Amino acid sequence: MSLFAKKSLESLLAEADESGKGLKRTLSAGALVALGIGAIIGAGLFVRTAAAAAQNAGPSVTIGFIVAAIGCALAGLCYAELSSSIPISGSAYTYTYATMGELLAWVIGWDLILEYAVGAATVGIAWSEYLNNLLVNVLHMNPIPYEWCHSPFEHSVDGVHGIINIPALAIVGLLSLLLIKGTQESAFVNGLIVITKVSIVILIIVFGWHFINPANHEPYIPAATTYTDHQGINHSYGGIMGILGAAGVVFFAFIGFDAVSTAAQETKNPKTAMPIGILGSLAICTVLYILFAHVLTGLAPVDFFRTNGKEASVVAAINTYMPGYGWLGKLVTVAILAGFSSVILVMLLGQSRVFYSMSKDGLLPPAFSALHPKFKTPYKANLIILAIVGVFAAFVPGDIVGEMTSIGTLFAFILVCAAVIILRKTEPNLPRQFKTPFVPVVPILGIIVCAAMIFGLGWTNWLRLFGWLAIGFIIYFMYSKKNSKLNK
Ligand code: ALA
Repeated sequence: MSLFAKKSLESLLAEADESGKGLKRTLSAGALVALGIGAIIGAGLFVRTAAAAAQNAGPSVTIGFIVAAIGCALAGLCYAELSSSIPISGSAYTYTYATMGELLAWVIGWDLILEYAVGAATVGIAWSEYLNNLLVNVLHMNPIPYEWCHSPFEHSVDGVHGIINIPALAIVGLLSLLLIKGTQESAFVNGLIVITKVSIVILIIVFGWHFINPANHEPYIPAATTYTDHQGINHSYGGIMGILGAAGVVFFAFIGFDAVSTAAQETKNPKTAMPIGILGSLAICTVLYILFAHVLTGLAPVDFFRTNGKEASVVAAINTYMPGYGWLGKLVTVAILAGFSSVILVMLLGQSRVFYSMSKDGLLPPAFSALHPKFKTPYKANLIILAIVGVFAAFVPGDIVGEMTSIGTLFAFILVCAAVIILRKTEPNLPRQFKTPFVPVVPILGIIVCAAMIFGLGWTNWLRLFGWLAIGFIIYFMYSKKNSKLNK
């Protein structure tokens, strides 16, 4: 059968009915916004913002946030239409299977490993940085030696080489085991974490505002040049390319809002609640992010984020440039360790849902959907995910996994935008609870803005995405094509 065989919408909707059995429609628009913010605010804001300022854009990282938010809003409108017409878990993978056929569905499923598994590794590495901060600044202990909390591909400013990032590996291991036991964050715990995360972001904006040194914002958009970091890696710094590169990097901070779309079957009145949930959580985060980035780049000069303030950057800036606010640095450290954990949990869960769907379709071996006899969780998938996430967390530098997550997710968003246009043509009569406005203008603009960010991320990242997809193609033709249920 053809590589472009599509799953029929009838069979998908029947699956949706089946998997939706027993799920109650309990979530309101407000609950969806909370779900979104719980998955969104994390390492992107607390680690990648300073990295983007240091390596790409200086203070104009705020403009990068605006570009990333526009791309997300356009793609978010497309997600809202698809999730309201194909309300089934599996996210972009499922939508692609119904619209663009099996090969592209495989590509997107494979690509989503970058969003969820590699994304979880990125947040794990950020967790490791803030753990050291907890040890030193809150508990007044010695830090974990550099070599045991960094990848072998990194060295410190004083020339110490990393060996393995043990804390990053430990946190993803612990949370994977929790998932196997079937621990899902309750709405109550998620609510608490959301309130904590939003509160510390607001506290930093309000208290930090008085410590902004206008000299640090001059020039707001640095002149275009190349910055070579202490590892010898070149970055396009300043100008338009700097802003696009920064947008690609901080795009990471928005990843997770698409998690809202997976709750379509549990939502009361999805027609209005879905767009409010997706766009509302995006809007709130965008405002917070821009103000936060403005304060952060105003507190410290760019050089600080390239040297002493490179790791656990937000707390480092508070401790150095906000005298008298040591308590805020401690509060942020503790809060963010909890906040990062909840983001990692959501990403690991998202990855296991995608693997589960792909395995049910025969594109991955049956082990990926085998349920634990007692806990009823896809424990084998969770263990395989742990192995993948663990390797990235332990051995790859945070900058690289962060940018791989961004480029992989941007690519997925492009396919989601395209899926809306295609589905309007192939299934004009499908009931759509929510319709993306101004099709095809909105999806086309979404594709253009996401492609611009991919462009800004630079050729090393294009090569990584390309290499990753090439491995995916090999697996598809060696295993998945032969075992696909649809092809049989
Ligand atoms: N948006 C999530 C974060 O920033 C992935 O950690």
